[in-house]
Amino acid sequence: MNLPFTEPFKIKMVENIYRSTREQREKWIEAASNNLFNLKSEQVFIDLLTDSGTGAMSDKQWSAMMLGDESYAGASSYYKLNDAIKDITGFEYFLPTHQGRAAENVLFSVLVKEGDIVPGNAHFDTTKGHIEFRKAKAIDCTIDSASDSTSWYSFKGNVDIKKLEEVLKNNPSDKISCIIITITNNSSGGQPVSMANIRETRNLADKYGVKLFLDSARFAENAFFIKTREEGYASKDIREIAREMFSYADGMTMSSKKDAIVNMGGFIGFRDEELFREASTYNIMYEGFITYGGMSGRDMNALAQGLYEGTEYIYLESRINQVAYLGTKMKEFGIPVLEPFGGHAIFIDAKKFLPDIPKEEFPAQMLAIEFYIEGGVRGVEIGGLMADRDPITHENRYPDIEMVRLAIPRRVYTNNHMDYVAVAVKNVFEKRTQIKRGLRIIREAPIMRHFTVQLEKL
Ligand code: F0G
Repeated sequence: MNLPFTEPFKIKMVENIYRSTREQREKWIEAASNNLFNLKSEQVFIDLLTDSGTGAMSDKQWSAMMLGDESYAGASSYYKLNDAIKDITGFEYFLPTHQGRAAENVLFSVLVKEGDIVPGNAHFDTTKGHIEFRKAKAIDCTIDSASDSTSWYSFKGNVDIKKLEEVLKNNPSDKISCIIITITNNSSGGQPVSMANIRETRNLADKYGVKLFLDSARFAENAFFIKTREEGYASKDIREIAREMFSYADGMTMSSKKDAIVNMGGFIGFRDEELFREASTYNIMYEGFITYGGMSGRDMNALAQGLYEGTEYIYLESRINQVAYLGTKMKEFGIPVLEPFGGHAIFIDAKKFLPDIPKEEFPAQMLAIEFYIEGGVRGVEIGGLMADRDPITHENRYPDIEMVRLAIPRRVYTNNHMDYVAVAVKNVFEKRTQIKRGLRIIREAPIMRHFTVQLEKL
């Protein structure tokens, strides 16, 4: 008999969580204006809002923190991080930032001008926010199969090369700030991008004379999928695959809060010295001096260690298997889940789950609220609320699929927790025909409304 998969770690410290009652949760979510971001964390039993910054650091990371060098300039922690980033990504230059969106802010301050276009596979919401804030246009060249939640395709995060070429052909190259490939593709379900697709995108970038950047928050999970699904990569090491992915790009932005398993941090990697120098000015203005840029020395030490731990095959195998474990349980219960399962989360198809609720009433948000009330499980809406309004027409832009994302923090929950989550979702599924109405917006911000929106049940 094959030995089963296990976590390649044991637990040294625990954090107690509070199991509330249904009545408490009903009151709390109403007081939170039906926005899960407004809940206090102690009102949540299992928190699957995000896998960002919520991972558990290792004993080696904690011990590295004690050796942090807090010098303003030239700290040893900066050089340690510099070595790790060069080793893992191959980029010659880097700037530290306090998180991923800060990396976007600094990089786009150089690259993105009013009237520009930024095509990609599917931009994450903060990326889109930073582009639209600069009065430029973010264009998603997502492959069509990404919007079919059941079609099996190994690399559903891919860029649609034809759609991308149309954009590049029909616009002058000086209007294209850069192409961005998000690995893995969070917005379309944590789906990976193949090496072949990254290579093809590089070829197009060269043909039309534009830059290519990777939004690399989950690059290690992407490398794991390449190793396990793409021909020719089975015997390659995760770090070797990661370096090849980066070799096709002019640079990268990184939210270290995901695959580098730290609670806070980010960076930008550059191949071109001139671009690095231009961005350095913005880094100093927005983030801090270029040898700490928004991170403390101890955080840079933890990140340098985390980059190595996050790219260990044995860790990635247990991580991705845990996500698949949850997905498989739900599938067995008949719940409409996005397949193949993503790297960091399970996505539930809300339109199939709650077919009676029209898109104008935000079915995915309604479903996320039901999961919370049932079991204290907090997920996040990836649907009409998050897709927001068109920046020009101000019309709501409803995405093709309405999803609830249950993102799994790294090294935090056990498979018993996953069993609990699956049953909470199943219980809601059994009552689904009783849920007939959704929600109405009472108040919304001009951009990125989902974080602060206030809603009322209809
Ligand atoms: N890019 C991607 C693909 C992301 O998923 C995120 C964050 C960012 C950039 C921004 O990074 O949070 O460090 O500023 N995603 C989180 C999530 C918030 O829940 O998926 P950040």
